[in-house]
Amino acid sequence: MSDESGPLSISEQLAGDYHSVFRNKDLIEPETIVDEDRIVGRDEQLNLIINTLKPALHDEHPEDMLLRGPSGTGKTLCAGTVANKTMEIGAERGIEIEYIEVNGKHKKSEHEAVHQIAHSLEASLNLEQTAKRGISTSSKYDRIFEIIDEHLDLAIVVLDELDLLVGETRAKDEVPAFSDILYNLTRSKRIGNMDSSISLIVTTNSPRSLMDGLNSRTASTFNPSEISFDDYDAYELTEILEYRRDAFREGVLGDGVIELVAAASAQGEGDARFAIDLLREAGNIVNRLEDDMVLERHVEQARDEVEKNYVADIVEKVSHQKQVSLLATALVAIHGDPVLEREPILRSNCVPSSVGYTLYRWVQEQSNSEVRSKHSYLRWMRELSTYEVIKNNRRGRGNEQGMFSEYAFPHLNPKSIVQIIAKDDPLLSEIIEDEETIKTIARSNLKEFAS
Ligand SMILES: Nc1ncnc2c1ncn2[C@@H]1O[C@H](COP(=O)(O)OP(=O)(O)O)[C@@H](O)[C@H]1O
Ligand SMILES: [Mg+2]
Repeated sequence: MSDESGPLSISEQLAGDYHSVFRNKDLIEPETIVDEDRIVGRDEQLNLIINTLKPALHDEHPEDMLLRGPSGTGKTLCAGTVANKTMEIGAERGIEIEYIEVNGKHKKSEHEAVHQIAHSLEASLNLEQTAKRGISTSSKYDRIFEIIDEHLDLAIVVLDELDLLVGETRAKDEVPAFSDILYNLTRSKRIGNMDSSISLIVTTNSPRSLMDGLNSRTASTFNPSEISFDDYDAYELTEILEYRRDAFREGVLGDGVIELVAAASAQGEGDARFAIDLLREAGNIVNRLEDDMVLERHVEQARDEVEKNYVADIVEKVSHQKQVSLLATALVAIHGDPVLEREPILRSNCVPSSVGYTLYRWVQEQSNSEVRSKHSYLRWMRELSTYEVIKNNRRGRGNEQGMFSEYAFPHLNPKSIVQIIAKDDPLLSEIIEDEETIKTIARSNLKEFAS
């Protein structure tokens, strides 16, 4: 139907030329393990990992490792690169080594994680796949040890972000799933009756949560050598990005773009993942606009989107207690709004800590879960503010009536936060349906606070 000057049909638009600013986009995808010549710095950490895995190439069992440090500091990259190379050299020398990785963030239970380890081993060795369901967790472990015993000299198992694999625990005295996994995977070391072995490389952004969560029997068998990774500064981030400039076509990155991305990322957490995501999103925006250069304004535009995703990712990952604290606080912002707007001492979208805590207590009571102290709630909220999930303001009440903390939501609005937390949690979803009660609690407590 379209004449020469009319708008193009959908098919014509789809079939038309495509100009991308990217030449090799894979280089700036988050999960890509890049070649060693693109790794910037980290010599000390690489060296320690190399020296710990090296014995595997000389008929000795490597020690377990714990790579610790904030998100996006190269832990997974360094572990993956050295493990891959160890496998390659092993293959040249007739030593059978497999390297597999399981991420605690994506697994809901010990069973799921152990299934994935067995599954990955079966897949890389071309063995028949065992079913996921109908097989007990302990049989899964047996299967892993059987495969290693029959086919391998060593399995290097990277347990990535292991502290996030807590399982369904809600009470204080339950052992987190990661403690059991570590205990069971170190079995061969205790029994010592296998010729082949497992070497564990555990990574965590939060070594405290991990080590504090181990029960005593696990703590006595898991004695890793620890390797620390620090935040990057803007110079290091610039260099990391420069080594991936060829992800883009020649000349499409405008002046100062890499420096701006690095500076924005260093201002947050010094996280190389954030920097790479930000650079890629800026490129995506330019492609969508059918422009041909990535400029500083595209970085500014991408920043908001990347920050939102980033915060959403953190909200999904934090412990259940932190999630409930956040959920309750967000509910006050949503359902207490008329009072927040009306009372002079309060502000829309800002929740005083004491009212947030009151609703936290109510939510926990509804689900028969453990109610922790106000002190714990304040600490969790402070931690969430360091990830910029919330903003923690200290304000005076006026008339010399002292100070109070209030929480605001700079990136993700309270409704989105509630959605993210409740979506995989049937119990919480049911509790937040009782909007009338939540309104009553939020509003009456806000009024009392303001009076
Ligand atoms: N020193 C580095 N040199 C080059 N790229 C890096 C470096 N550190 C991190 N990266 C990149 O940043 C992203 C996040 O790194 P990753 O190893 O996943 O961090 P972590 O496991 O510590 O959270 C990855 O895309 C990785 O390739
Ligand atoms: Mg990682």
